[in-house]
Amino acid sequence: MESSSDSDDDSITARRYKRIAWCVVLAGLLTILVGLPQVPVLLHYHQPLGFAATPDSPGILGQAELKTFFPAFAAGAEAPVVLLIRGRNGKVLTKEVEEFTARIERALTDPRAEPLHPLLLGLYASNRLGSLKLPSDLVRRKLLSKDQRSTLLVLLPTSFPSFATFREKGVNRTVFAPWLYRKQLMEFLHEMLLDGPADAEVLLTGNPVIEYERFFDRSIELLLRAELCVLPFTTMIFIWLVREVRLLVFPPLVLLCSLALSAACSVPLAKWTPLSPDVPPAMISVLLAFSLDYSLFILSRFMENHSKGVEREENAKILVCETGHTIVVSGILIAIAFFGAFALPERNLHSAGQVLGITVVCCMLVNIALSPSLLLLFGWRFVETESPDSESEREALMGKETGLLGLSGSEGETLGEEAFAKHKNWFRFMRLIERCPRGAVCLVFLIFLPLTWQLPKLHGTADIYAALPRDMPSVLAMRELAREFPGGQFDPYFVVLTGDTLISEEGYKAMLQLCGMLQNVGVDSILGPVYLLDRSVDWQTSQRWQSVLAPSEIHQTYRTVMASHVNGSAVLLEAFTDFLPRGSKGASWVRAVRQGLEIWQGEHPQFTASLSGGATLMVDAQDTVMQAVPLYLLICISLITLVVFGIFRSLLLPLRLAFALLFTLAATFGTAVVFYQTPLLHGLFPWLANYDGLCYEIVPMAVCIAIALGLDYDIFLVSRIVEFRKEGFNDPTSIVLGVANTGGIISGAGAIMALAFSGLFFSPKLLHQQFAFLLVTSVLLDTFVVRTILVPAMMLSAGDYNWWPRQMPHSRKRGPQLMAVTDAAQSKGG
Ligand SMILES: *[C@@H]1O[C@H](CO)[C@@H](O)[C@H](O)[C@H]1NC(C)=O
Ligand SMILES: *[C@@H]1O[C@H](CO)[C@@H](O)[C@H](O)[C@H]1NC(C)=O
Repeated sequence: MESSSDSDDDSITARRYKRIAWCVVLAGLLTILVGLPQVPVLLHYHQPLGFAATPDSPGILGQAELKTFFPAFAAGAEAPVVLLIRGRNGKVLTKEVEEFTARIERALTDPRAEPLHPLLLGLYASNRLGSLKLPSDLVRRKLLSKDQRSTLLVLLPTSFPSFATFREKGVNRTVFAPWLYRKQLMEFLHEMLLDGPADAEVLLTGNPVIEYERFFDRSIELLLRAELCVLPFTTMIFIWLVREVRLLVFPPLVLLCSLALSAACSVPLAKWTPLSPDVPPAMISVLLAFSLDYSLFILSRFMENHSKGVEREENAKILVCETGHTIVVSGILIAIAFFGAFALPERNLHSAGQVLGITVVCCMLVNIALSPSLLLLFGWRFVETESPDSESEREALMGKETGLLGLSGSEGETLGEEAFAKHKNWFRFMRLIERCPRGAVCLVFLIFLPLTWQLPKLHGTADIYAALPRDMPSVLAMRELAREFPGGQFDPYFVVLTGDTLISEEGYKAMLQLCGMLQNVGVDSILGPVYLLDRSVDWQTSQRWQSVLAPSEIHQTYRTVMASHVNGSAVLLEAFTDFLPRGSKGASWVRAVRQGLEIWQGEHPQFTASLSGGATLMVDAQDTVMQAVPLYLLICISLITLVVFGIFRSLLLPLRLAFALLFTLAATFGTAVVFYQTPLLHGLFPWLANYDGLCYEIVPMAVCIAIALGLDYDIFLVSRIVEFRKEGFNDPTSIVLGVANTGGIISGAGAIMALAFSGLFFSPKLLHQQFAFLLVTSVLLDTFVVRTILVPAMMLSAGDYNWWPRQMPHSRKRGPQLMAVTDAAQSKGG
């Protein structure tokens, strides 16, 4: 029995522990009270802020050129609103449609439409552009589908007011509000649609409509609901791993506190670095994933200690010192992976990295402080104290076991009978790997070779529709439109040419050559001095048409085009593509045309050419982001390697870690290539055919999170191996014991993570789905391939190269006991 001074000391320590725990719990409650009201603020940060191209990118320069010489086009480039009218009984040339057109034309003087001075183009519209009346055969060709079942009615705004004046308390206030006019126009059109043609269906689309509908995007609410559906499964995994239902009150409490703390820290920062709308969903997923994982690590360790009969204060101490240490290491490394986003040259990624980094740090802090405190104060009320019966039974079994293994008492305890019973399958599995570790490594590589082989084919897509809900009415209508009409008809690309001699015979030749290049890359039609949509115009024809002797219709049309498309020494060519210019084919088109323009400029050094409109800015942003990813990887992996080296004092370990991380990344992105860049799944999900490639926006974020997750499990596993190594087992035994002891927990944690992220699969945005796909794949790979096979096999096959050169006492035990361990497990199982 203990002396009285010892027990006095114990009770003093116990009281001190309790005081600290109470303080932590109170602080936690306070955090929840203060931070929770900030959560809705964060969720409603709806700043539509896309990725930005760098100021010196070709797209921005091209846009500047267009703004300088053709300001009217620059302002109206994205403006047309299109009404797709489809006849219900197969025909669209009906009286009803004619009347509908007339109604809209009359109503254009409505105060909601009037400030934009819209022109109306349509089969039955007057089609007047100033003094010019569009030829009716042209209108028919462009606005009526080939099967005559659908037609387009186009509303073309010609003025773009951006300031609005409101009367407030008797004072007129003028504010910048371009969205106001868009909103009013939409309201006007929706009202017109109420009284649409009875025998036809009218779909509203065009860039302004998409922008307007985007405003009502409810993806976040959908996501939260999906996360709620995932919750029961997560709970089941928790119950299965922790085996104590009553302890499940803690993880939600800890989660709530982490959420409150990260919201309270992120909201003030969001004032400096505005958040993109995709950050809050990512933050919720990351929060759920890491908070639940850390809670699981702590609860399972708590139960393990408890079943060993560890005192409650001692248990709390082990939780803080051992599991807490693991969590801190993992949290720091993950925070490095997220804050590393500041190495990327993009503001949006800075905000994402910052918020996610803060989230992980908050999860880490709350978990290592609040969870042990709650468990110390209340945990004991929730777990069953073991009956003396089972206790003695256990001891007897343990005695048998230690005898069997020939281990001395303390190791016998670590390798308790329960460990065998619980982990016998893991022991069996590890025995397989231990027999032939090099073979296992080779096998993994062989199996994943076809996937990693795909990696070079990976290409990002600059498709705006991937970031929009698939089922948004205007997006659906846009796809319908692109099926029957050239998709780029009302969203042209602009080529601005400059040079003094453009309007000359030589200039015309050069320009026609350029148009030939455009035709080769693929355009539906071109409008400019050398091309009237489908008809090329050489220098002689142009001279003839400009003279008064030409037929008056062509004379007037050509004069109008010349007036609008030539300004001094600058010429504008509008290129209309036959696909959606901002869709999946846009980026490759832009790249090809830019290359062509460069060659053209090389042949004609007296002229310059620049491309703008469509997906040009997206392509630039994509290039900026994708080029930065290798740099980011380099910085992240070197920092992580350094920190791991500092913590474990081993050179081989961080190298192995970096290797495992790169393997997971390569296999994950290779799988994504197979899924999203081949028609493999098109039978199952036909809508995937509309997209091609991986949204470049998610690539850096997915890389960040995949690295973070890989680290999480790797560190958890390696810390346990090190614990066994410190207890004096030799390298192979520690590795086997480490894997077997963490096996169930890591698998469960991985399953929870995968579930937490799979909420994103329910989002109608391809962007979110691909994000979920990348994360879930990387988690599953990490949990079921890398941690289970690759890491132990690599460590085992390195043999006695000594993973921990300093620090570790040289192993006392080597030799046969590992076999004994697995044999024991086998005989128990059999
Ligand atoms: C022509 O270009 C000049 C700049 O060189 C610009 O100031 C002017 O507004 C342009 N004119 C038209 C009609 O776009
Ligand atoms: C505010 O604007 C209205 C017309 O928009 C004008 O009649 C009125 O005088 C203005 N009031 C002031 C205080 O400027």
